[in-house]
Amino acid sequence: MSINFRNKHFITTDDWSKQELDIVFELSADLKRRFALNEPHRLLQDKTLFMMFFEQSTRTRNSMEAGMTQLGGHAHDLTPDKMQLSHGESAKDTSIILSRMGHGIATRQAFYGSSNKYLNELAKHATVPVMSLQDDVYHPMQGLADKMVINEYFGNNTKGLKVTIAWAYAKSHAKPLSVPQTQALLFPRYGMDVTIAHPKEFPLSANIIAKAKKNAEAGGGSLRFTNDMDEAVEGAHIVIPKNWGGYAAYSEEDFLANEEAAFKEMGENLEKYQDWIYDRRRVNLGHKDVKMMHALPADRNREVTDEVIDDESVSIVYDEAENRLHTAKAIMALTMGGR
Ligand code: CP
Repeated sequence: MSINFRNKHFITTDDWSKQELDIVFELSADLKRRFALNEPHRLLQDKTLFMMFFEQSTRTRNSMEAGMTQLGGHAHDLTPDKMQLSHGESAKDTSIILSRMGHGIATRQAFYGSSNKYLNELAKHATVPVMSLQDDVYHPMQGLADKMVINEYFGNNTKGLKVTIAWAYAKSHAKPLSVPQTQALLFPRYGMDVTIAHPKEFPLSANIIAKAKKNAEAGGGSLRFTNDMDEAVEGAHIVIPKNWGGYAAYSEEDFLANEEAAFKEMGENLEKYQDWIYDRRRVNLGHKDVKMMHALPADRNREVTDEVIDDESVSIVYDEAENRLHTAKAIMALTMGGR
């Protein structure tokens, strides 16, 4: 098997084979060890990454920027107002110019119906690797950190592990579909039995569900859906309570044509499900050693109670978040460096 990852784009974990992802996880663990030992690992000496953030970020921005520094390179933290993007410069021109000046391009943009297309347009014209920092469909960097923390707590053989991805109530904003969709695609490839629970107005995208089912068949895992949060968490080894917007109830075309009306309807639907919260009662329905994960930021006391997210015997969210650094460094080192 070739392990030359140089210039390979990272837009969805689905574009990477399991063998390739396993190398990413091995390297992530090695980089975590080196970081803990304060051992230099300047694998990207003098290299430049251009990061374009169209939206806010704590974990992604800082894992990438700190990661580039620790790897011996530099990351530009760009926002549209600092670039000619704000005057409508095309993805093609942006991508070609940045490719000529540096060694990697990464962007966060999660607008339903357009952001994954924008990222793919960047990738089409780039001569350096293009990395997703989250779009409207996928959040592959988050998926890697999630799988890494699962390996750390449950071992590398995750066959038969019961993982529940549960929609949860939140007020902060209508969160993208990208985190649960990435988890639904990735976890069954590693033999996990994934249950996805959501109110009927908050589905995942049909094409992602179809692909995730194929991944489950190939990987020996399973995927099932329910509209009952209690039933979903029963016996679970891992519960991921996470809000997402009701975007997939609309076609991308309909959503973009009637965005204001769609957000209004989504907001009205949201208020019907305030009881979709992961609390102590629901923890007790799970496996006796159940772990709770969340990509963060969490809507505390809406998605999950303070009592649960702060219970270190249940919550592994900070280990999950830390792994964003190690996995991001592995992806950057492999795609921007390598041979
Ligand atoms: N989980 C995650 O992507 O966090 P940020 O939005 O803070 O980057």
